[in-house]
Amino acid sequence: MTEKREKIYEGKAKIIYATDNPDLIIQFFKDDATAFNAQKKGVIVNKGVINNAISSKIFSYLEDGGIHTHFVKKLSDREMLAKRLEIIPVEVVVRNVSAGSLSGRMGIDEGIELPLPVLEFYYKSDELGDPMINESHIKAFNLAKEGEMDKIRDVAMDVNKRLKSFFVQRGITLVDFKIEFGRHRGEVLLGDEITPDACRLWDAVTRDKMDKDRFRRDLGGVEDAYLKVYERVCGVKG
Ligand code: TMP
Repeated sequence: MTEKREKIYEGKAKIIYATDNPDLIIQFFKDDATAFNAQKKGVIVNKGVINNAISSKIFSYLEDGGIHTHFVKKLSDREMLAKRLEIIPVEVVVRNVSAGSLSGRMGIDEGIELPLPVLEFYYKSDELGDPMINESHIKAFNLAKEGEMDKIRDVAMDVNKRLKSFFVQRGITLVDFKIEFGRHRGEVLLGDEITPDACRLWDAVTRDKMDKDRFRRDLGGVEDAYLKVYERVCGVKG
């Protein structure tokens, strides 16, 4: 039995606790939601429970497919046991369909299928508002080593392929998503979470948004959308 110890870090959507094992931490999923670098704040009722369940299910699925993640096991409704990571301060975004900042940057409508997945990097810095960077920034500022970036690129693309098919089987289009990586005992592992907070998920038939854009854009039906994703991902009625 792993024992929960002191709080190490509190983020916008999660709290990280130490455990009695220096290699392991506990991620506690909160209901708090923020957008636009925390300029907008709110609560999505039960989001913590739903996101922990969704993340746990998806990390197990990816592990089964040979992707190395920080996931160890789901401990409780809101808690996940994970390997302790030294987070690489690069947010990795993969896009299959135009939306959000890509639509703004390229001046195109949302909802256009991209001819190939687009891979982007952002410098993980709340102070700076996560600016977009490229691989030469990552190298010049030593955010990650070249070998680590080779791994991150490959794993991000592999995760995209696997997640796309996972969601298609559940009637959901994976528009885009953000993932993070970290170092654990010399290995680069997929970390953080994979949830409707950090993915754009559209109903494959109606194209209804089933993710945090409902909160960001005040579209209403936020809790309902998260619950629907939970039901489809975990195969149970909420
Ligand atoms: P974007 O279109 O706003 O750049 O977002 C791309 C994807 O990254 C989308 O699935 C939402 C996710 N994302 C985060 O997880 N955290 C963030 O801070 C931002 C801006 C986006």
